[in-house]
Amino acid sequence: MQQEPYRFETPLATPSPYVLGEGLVGLLPAELHRLGFDRCFLVTSRKLFELWGRDLVKRLRRDSVRATVLLVGDGEDQKSWRVLQRLSERLVQAGATRDSLLLALGGGVIGNVAGMAAGLLYRGIRFVELPTTVMALTDSTLSNKQAVNGRRGKNLFGLYHAPRLIWGDVAWARSEPLRQQRSGVVEGIKNVFISQSGPAGAEAILDAWDHADLPRLVRLLIESKFPILRADPTEKGSAVILEYGHTFGHAIEFLAQGRLFHGEAVAIGMCLAGELSHALGHLPASVLADHYHLLGDRLGAPTAFPDWLEPESLLQAMQNDNKRTRQGLGYLLLKGYGEFVNPAGDRQIGVESEIVLETLRRAQARSRETSPASR
Ligand SMILES: NC(=O)c1ccc[n+]([C@@H]2O[C@H](COP(=O)([O-])OP(=O)(O)OC[C@H]3O[C@@H](n4cnc5c(N)ncnc54)[C@H](O)[C@@H]3O)[C@@H](O)[C@H]2O)c1
Repeated sequence: MQQEPYRFETPLATPSPYVLGEGLVGLLPAELHRLGFDRCFLVTSRKLFELWGRDLVKRLRRDSVRATVLLVGDGEDQKSWRVLQRLSERLVQAGATRDSLLLALGGGVIGNVAGMAAGLLYRGIRFVELPTTVMALTDSTLSNKQAVNGRRGKNLFGLYHAPRLIWGDVAWARSEPLRQQRSGVVEGIKNVFISQSGPAGAEAILDAWDHADLPRLVRLLIESKFPILRADPTEKGSAVILEYGHTFGHAIEFLAQGRLFHGEAVAIGMCLAGELSHALGHLPASVLADHYHLLGDRLGAPTAFPDWLEPESLLQAMQNDNKRTRQGLGYLLLKGYGEFVNPAGDRQIGVESEIVLETLRRAQARSRETSPASR
C-alpha cells in the first residue's frame, strides 16, 4: 500500500517543496503537470538510466509526460565546465525553452551539473531534483548551491539556483552500494557536531543505519540539517558551519581523484578539523575522540590520514578553498558540540600554516603507527 508521502519545504530563502516517501513514481506525473512545461529533459547517467530511468520515462510517458533523455557520465570528474557546457549546448540544440523542465535523476554530481545548467540556460529555467543517493536525498538537494569543479579545486564555479521540486523516492537509493550510502551518512553526523548539544542525535542516526532502516535514516538526516538552514536560509552567513571539515575534506577529495567518496573525504576532514581545534586548545579531547568513535568505529567511515597523501600537498591543495577571503584561508574550529570559535564573526579563524602542517604531520604519523601495513 502506498504510504502518504512526507511533504515539507526546504527552510531556505528560496524554498523548494520536498516530497519524501518510498515507491512514489506513480505520483510524479501529476506533480509535473501541476508545474506545467512545454518539454521535459531527463538528465542522468547510463547506469542510472538502466537502473531507474528507463522505467521512469515509461511511467511518465503513460501519463503524457514526454521526457527527452540526455546522458552524462558518472563520477566526480563530470562536475566540470566541459560537461556543463556540453549539456547546456545539447539542451539548446534539443529545443529547450524558458518553459522547459529539467529533471535531474542521480546523486549530488548530476544534481549539481544539471542545477548549474538550469541556472545558466536563458538566465535560469526550472529544474526538478530526483535524488538517487543517500547524500543527494539528505544533503545536496537541501541546498540551493550548484557548482562545478575547476582545475585547481572543488566547487570553484557555481551559483544559487533552487530546484522547483525535490522528489525524494527512497526506493531509488536502494540500489546504491553500501559504501556509498555510508558516505552519505557522514554529513548527518557532522550536523550533530556543529549544531547539537551532545552526541544523542548521532546515536539515533547510527541506530537507523545499523538497522538498515533507510526511510528513518533519510528522515533523521534531513532533519539534522534543518536547524542550520533555518538559522541562515540564504546559506551565505552562519550556514558556513556546514563546511566544518570541508577545507581539509574537499582538498582530500580533489587529490583522491576518485579513490574516496565525498562523505569519506569529509569524515577524514572532520577528524583533521577536530585535531586542529584540539591542538589550538579549543576542543576537549573527549569530543575529538567522539569524532573517531562516531565516524570510524560506529559508522565505519575512514578517519585515518590517507596513506597516499603527504601533508605538504594537502596544505597546498587547501589554498584553493572556495571560502578563502582577502584575509586568506580560514578554518572552522569547534569548541564543543554546537559551539564554534568566533561565533559572532564569520566563524573562520586564520591559523599559521606551520601549525596546520604540524597537525597534519602528527595525524599522518599516528595513522602510520596504527596501520603499518598501509604503506
Ligand atoms: N550544496 C550542495 O550542492 C552539495 C552538498 C553535498 C554534496 N554535494 C556534492 O555531491 C557530490 C556527491 O554526491 P553523491 O555522494 O550523491 O555521489 P555521486 O553523485 O558522485 O554518485 C556516486 C556514484 O553513485 C552512482 N549512483 C547514484 N545513485 C545510485 C543508485 N541509486 N544505485 C547505484 N548507483 C548509484 C553514481 O552513478 C555514481 O557513480 C559531490 O560532488 C559533492 O560536492 C553538493
